[in-house]
Amino acid sequence: MVGTCRKMGTAEVNMVTGAFSHTGKYIAQRLLSMGERVRTLSGRPNHEDPFGGQVEAFPFNFNKPGELTDSLRGAKTLYNTYWVRFPHGQMTFDRAVGNSKTLITAAEEAGISRIVHISITNPSENSPFPYFRGKALIEKAIIHSKLSYAIVRPTVIFGAEGVLINNIAWLLRRFPIFAVFGSGEYRIQPVFAEDVTEIAVSLGHKDNNTVNDAVGPEVYTFNELIRLITQKIGSRARIVHVKPGLALFVARLIGYVVKDVVITKDEIQGLMSNLLVSESPPTGQTCLSEWLEQNADRVGASYISDLQRHYR
Ligand SMILES: NC(=O)c1ccc[n+]([C@@H]2O[C@H](COP(=O)([O-])OP(=O)(O)OC[C@H]3O[C@@H](n4cnc5c(N)ncnc54)[C@H](OP(=O)(O)O)[C@@H]3O)[C@@H](O)[C@H]2O)c1
Repeated sequence: MVGTCRKMGTAEVNMVTGAFSHTGKYIAQRLLSMGERVRTLSGRPNHEDPFGGQVEAFPFNFNKPGELTDSLRGAKTLYNTYWVRFPHGQMTFDRAVGNSKTLITAAEEAGISRIVHISITNPSENSPFPYFRGKALIEKAIIHSKLSYAIVRPTVIFGAEGVLINNIAWLLRRFPIFAVFGSGEYRIQPVFAEDVTEIAVSLGHKDNNTVNDAVGPEVYTFNELIRLITQKIGSRARIVHVKPGLALFVARLIGYVVKDVVITKDEIQGLMSNLLVSESPPTGQTCLSEWLEQNADRVGASYISDLQRHYR
């Protein structure tokens, strides 16, 4: 018993943003399974702790940097998943960049030594897409900070709570027609959430500065991806190709019904610009095709709403 207490007391403390959400939950789970301690920063600190009280939660407190710094004190590594998928209400990409910079400064002041930052493939300060531009600005702030860093750049993340693949499957289960925007010949290279976690946690335990893509072993055209999901879940939906503007209009109508932003114009254009594939060798092992096979009954059984997750 005494031994256990000593182990708990000396175990490394990690701060994981979003441990009650998607990728952060996998990272927190992995660190706990390694005997490390986890705290989280969350927009929903009172959310039920899926780890049975093992994870102490703090609010982001971006507008109270002193309190944010205090919540980070004592942690060695910050695993940062914080970002917004689309602007909504008062939340803009510029604000999310500002919040991320506040978090980086607070981490420096709190004495955190390493940041593992979840970014995205192909970020660029010159990108026409604010998501990718914002990600590049945050990477730059991290690289110029005092922290040692590992920047992890995933493509689309799939897993039990991943939004895109699940919601495509949901649409294919519910509707007789599925509208692919444009030719559908643009590419996508999905990566499994647990593979991203493995990469992130293993880099968290090193101390060199590094930037790595986190990409799965399979590259699909969007047409192939839709055909694969259709086949695995046994959908009979007819696949049609429409102009991106019409697809967006239909997505907005569906979004009105499910009370969510199904997909944004930038996401459509980002996909069509092949930003969700990597030129680097795959770093994830798990094949989407096999995961879909194993999860055929579950994937898309219910809709996952980003608005419900983050704006309730
Ligand atoms: N999901 C993908 O397919 C994908 C692909 C490439 C890169 N990424 C990157 O991977 C990271 C994690 O993505 P994820 O999908 O796993 O995200 P997530 O768990 O849904 O959210 C990550 C964190 O951001 C916060 N957050 C998200 N939207 C917010 C909003 N609108 N307002 C305030 N806070 C918000 C969450 O707050 P709460 O703690 O309150 O939930 C959570 O702490 C992100 O940096 C994302 O850019 C994701």
